[in-house]
Amino acid sequence: MPTLPPARILGIESSCDETACAVIENGRALIASAVASQMDIHARYGGVFPEVASRQHVLSVVPVIEQALAKSNLTLKDMDAIAVTRGPGLAGSLVVGMNAAKGLSLGLGLPLIGVNHLEGHIYSAWIHNAGDAVPPEPQFPLMALLVSGGHTELNLMTDHLTYKRLGSTLDDAAGEAFDKVGRLLSLPFPGGPAIQKAAENGDPTRFKFTRPKLDSPYAFSFSGLKTAVLYEVNDFKKKNEPIPVEDFAASFQATAVDILFNKTMQAARDFNAKEILVAGGVSANKALRNAFQPQNEFKVHIPAFSLCTDNAAMIAAAGYYRYALGHVSEMDIDVQPTWGLS
Ligand code: KG4
Ligand code: ZN
Repeated sequence: MPTLPPARILGIESSCDETACAVIENGRALIASAVASQMDIHARYGGVFPEVASRQHVLSVVPVIEQALAKSNLTLKDMDAIAVTRGPGLAGSLVVGMNAAKGLSLGLGLPLIGVNHLEGHIYSAWIHNAGDAVPPEPQFPLMALLVSGGHTELNLMTDHLTYKRLGSTLDDAAGEAFDKVGRLLSLPFPGGPAIQKAAENGDPTRFKFTRPKLDSPYAFSFSGLKTAVLYEVNDFKKKNEPIPVEDFAASFQATAVDILFNKTMQAARDFNAKEILVAGGVSANKALRNAFQPQNEFKVHIPAFSLCTDNAAMIAAAGYYRYALGHVSEMDIDVQPTWGLS
């Protein structure tokens, strides 16, 4: 591994319903981060409303950049490059961050680095707060479980920026399943955190849901689990009985966590991974974090709680490695982005 050059990267993220800006030094040290969440606005619609999201990004993007810079006690002149999420995501949302980043890059004469949002999630596990003791760096080969609202995949990472996708979801992503099950249990949006909260007082063994049998051990499928919850909930409705929301939440969460944990462990063993990394919005889930923490077979890297859901620190961190290793990707919006290899 060559010694990487020092660099300060300003990252911008606007792929879904968070407008965010952050400054990262040398790929790992978080100097400042600002996130403007639109969650309360979209909660009214029970999901992300793309047109509303784009308009909110337009309102928030400059204030968020100013906020991150103010927190950092730095100015735009102190940056070495601008990194921005280029996809996947909502097109109307992506263009807002991308155009802001292009403006900064042009105005300041700095390189512009397009970052894949999923790669950003993975690099969130490299980040620590500036000034804190530097945690051990993830070691390759690394088995990376990526669990977000739009994606669920297992990637074998053999080096920086080098991935082999082993499997992904055949239908719903893990976060999407949490959100849909949350909706059918009449919990507020987004379902992930709401299910986690409801599950705290529920019995995870009350409902037994079967695991899907798939051709590949590294593929995922969550729509059958969601439908199984739906059928059981409907049984209560038909009988006019109160729905045991907490037990449903706990049983669903336990099943989903069990599937994610077991497949990741299996893949890590099969591919002789040195360590495991878990990232993406669902990695904020306490039950999932707990499942991975007590085992001592592999060292497991999970980002700090605040870096699990969408943020710009992860985009700046991934942007740093692209910048430092000379892998600067093209800037087109990824409408159907390729991610990983083979
Ligand atoms: O990574 P992310 O912020 O956005 C995407 O890239 O999709 O992930 C959002 C997803 C949502 O589906 C949300 O319900 C889920 O992450 N999520 C959680 C938790 N916090 C967020 N799922 C389970 N438990 C949580 N605590
Ligand atoms: Zn995300």
